[in-house]
Amino acid sequence: MLRNLKLSPELCAQEFDNRLVVITGATSGIGYATARKYASQGADILSIHRNEAKSQQLCETLQSQYPIACIYLMADFAKLADVHQAAEELSALDRPIDVLIHNAGVFVTQRTFTGDGLEMAFQVNYLSTFILNYYLREKFLNQRASRILFVNSEAHRFAVWGLNLDDLAWEHHRYSGLKSYGAAKTAQLLSMIKLSEYFAGTGVTVNAMHPGNVKTNSGQNNGPIYKFFKRLLVDRTAKSPEVSAEALYYLGVSDALANTSGKFFNLTTEEEPAPPALDEEAAEALWALSLKLGGLK
Ligand SMILES: NC(=O)c1ccc[n+]([C@@H]2O[C@H](COP(=O)([O-])OP(=O)(O)OC[C@H]3O[C@@H](n4cnc5c(N)ncnc54)[C@H](OP(=O)(O)O)[C@@H]3O)[C@@H](O)[C@H]2O)c1
Repeated sequence: MLRNLKLSPELCAQEFDNRLVVITGATSGIGYATARKYASQGADILSIHRNEAKSQQLCETLQSQYPIACIYLMADFAKLADVHQAAEELSALDRPIDVLIHNAGVFVTQRTFTGDGLEMAFQVNYLSTFILNYYLREKFLNQRASRILFVNSEAHRFAVWGLNLDDLAWEHHRYSGLKSYGAAKTAQLLSMIKLSEYFAGTGVTVNAMHPGNVKTNSGQNNGPIYKFFKRLLVDRTAKSPEVSAEALYYLGVSDALANTSGKFFNLTTEEEPAPPALDEEAAEALWALSLKLGGLK
């Protein structure tokens, strides 16, 4: 894992004309660079955001530079009702989704709850992605081959003991930003186990990746001390989001990955996730709990 942190991604030179890429959180950082990369190769973009002005700005910028279609849906991933609404609209889309990139995410240093009463990192980073995938499962089965990608993190390894399914609110375990973020990313990897089983043999693949240590707006929702140390220690060695975008393009488009599913990549290098992210029983239990928490049947 440490050796892989220094690697550059494989590059993919294939075009992606007239394909549709759905991406969440493309208003800044990795999502923005990735939407640009796909648009530069001819793909149409449908992004999902919580900020309308930034969404319009993204589409205007992309369409002024590339001959593509760009539309967006609005959803705050900290609001379950918004995610259900966006998921319904997406599943009714009369066009195949070629690549779905779950990129939106937050890092929260203080234990915070959403209006739905769930811990913020869990809901935004994990549960909203689960709901979108759940709604879209029929659409994916009935359309041409497609790829689902999770922008995950090596930080899933901070959930050393795995997910506390009976204490997702961190009432009986000491909360830290790293632990809650690691737990949410672990949850996403556990959902990947079940999703890749579900889609096995259908042409739909599901993979996850670590985008590198990247200089983005990540963590700007936190207090001044966190931001000071992030600027001082983390951002100094951080890469540009274009590196992650190249990796996400390769994972979404390269023929080399056509039959690869259920894998975790550091950029484009396959890696073994931490043991708690491979726990089949936890994956099963999380799936059932997510249906309940997400208000799904
Ligand atoms: N940067 C890194 O070093 C790094 C490392 C490992 C993994 N990652 C992962 O990479 C992904 C992208 O993060 P980034 O580093 O590019 O950070 P970023 O610049 O902060 O981008 C995060 C994106 O997620 C959106 N978002 C945040 N909360 C949301 C919510 N409640 N509802 C809807 N959208 C929301 C943001 O929208 P707004 O513009 O409205 O805020 C933004 O578009 C995340 O999943 C993160 O966990 C990043």
